Amino acid sequence: MHIMRVSVIGGGYVGLVTGACFASRNAEVTIIDCDPKKVAAINRKEPPIYEEGLLEILNDCVGVTLSASHSYDSIPDADLIYICVGTPEGADGSADLSYIRQAVTDAGRRMQESRKYQVLVVKSTVPPGTVQNIVKPAVLAASGKREEEIGFGMNPEFLREGRAVHDFLNPDRIVLGADGDDAYSRMASLYESFDVMKIRTSPAAAEMIKYTANAFLATKISFSNEIGNICKQLGLDVYEVMSAVGHDSRIGPLFLNAGAGFGGSCFPKDVMALVHLATAAGVDPIILKAVLAVNENQPGRMIRLLQERCGDLAGKRIAVLGLAFKDNTDDIRESRAIPAIQLLKDAGAYVTAYDPMAATAMSEVFPDIEYCRTAAAALSHADGALIMTEWPEFCTLSEEFSLMRRQIIIDGRHMVTGPGVEGVCW
Ligand code: UGA
Repeated sequence: MHIMRVSVIGGGYVGLVTGACFASRNAEVTIIDCDPKKVAAINRKEPPIYEEGLLEILNDCVGVTLSASHSYDSIPDADLIYICVGTPEGADGSADLSYIRQAVTDAGRRMQESRKYQVLVVKSTVPPGTVQNIVKPAVLAASGKREEEIGFGMNPEFLREGRAVHDFLNPDRIVLGADGDDAYSRMASLYESFDVMKIRTSPAAAEMIKYTANAFLATKISFSNEIGNICKQLGLDVYEVMSAVGHDSRIGPLFLNAGAGFGGSCFPKDVMALVHLATAAGVDPIILKAVLAVNENQPGRMIRLLQERCGDLAGKRIAVLGLAFKDNTDDIRESRAIPAIQLLKDAGAYVTAYDPMAATAMSEVFPDIEYCRTAAAALSHADGALIMTEWPEFCTLSEEFSLMRRQIIIDGRHMVTGPGVEGVCW
């Protein structure tokens, strides 16, 4: 088997995991990143982010099949060039493609030096048409090459933060959007050792598949939240309802957990980008807008439930348990704890907060709330509490609630039961 040479541009969680996992499957990989600290950390076998299983791969592969660099020197010799840079939300909600444009232009310049057929693949989440209409012309112009000398592809990722290595090595399917047979076979041979369905599409369909998958998962969550809001009004437990509903094989049991709503660097941004591109295409995205609206409302619902039981929140001590957007990460991007804390502050509450990993990150957003080292310390003398993140350790809380001045707990993640506990949707 020919050993593939792969240059991965972007050493964030997608690029790093992609590069490391390809290197663990016998490709020769260089990860290119402009941050010298990140490059040095990877080369020292120290993962710059926490991802389960990543340290082991770096230990095995760095210096053997994996290295990191701030230069593009590996590009001329690469069989495949993977673009894994960020596509943040632009000011108007559309995907900001400036990092993509920069990366593919820089790559194109160095591809000029190559004598062989190369394939440039985008893994970043980009709007349909980006590879064909933006990336391809930019690379051809920068490299001065003819169309048949370079293949183009789009290979979306479906990795959950925190479980990305596992998800990469055990995919449900691999989507390979290719602009021709040669590009497809090059991408397919990189994934040769993955014994799983490979779906060939056009690059634009692959781009749409990524947005659609995230939008559908976000829809499942908002749908469950809406059903939960109705169930609560009717005195029913949405978890009992959805667990039976999820046994229908057409529906499936996952992503039906009602509660505080979805956060993170992907769902809110990707659904918003899809709303934006639908509108630009002349389609009113009624469902997608509702998905975002339901999500925006859930933290406010939690505060209203708290107010109903605590009364005016001014001067009250309220504990917020969980700051990360989900468990097992210190990432607070779009965390539902952010609007919840803001609403508590607006109402004049004194906020104490606890999170096993994300307190430092949140202290940059809210420097003026009290961060505690344990859930017990945050709950001590509190007039009320909110549970915002599904950290497994919260399931074992019980005695700690007796430290509160009044035992009023609004649970946004279906973690606890007992006196004074009320769910946001149950
Ligand atoms: C998500 C997708 O799950 C990945 O497939 C995708 O590749 C990734 O975005 C991406 O586009 O890069 P991630 O953002 O890491 O992954 O997190 P998830 O585990 O999907 O959770 C997202 C949010 O939904 C969290 O805030 C979580 O608390 C919430 N959630 C999840 C619910 O409220 N209910 C559920 O049933 C499931």
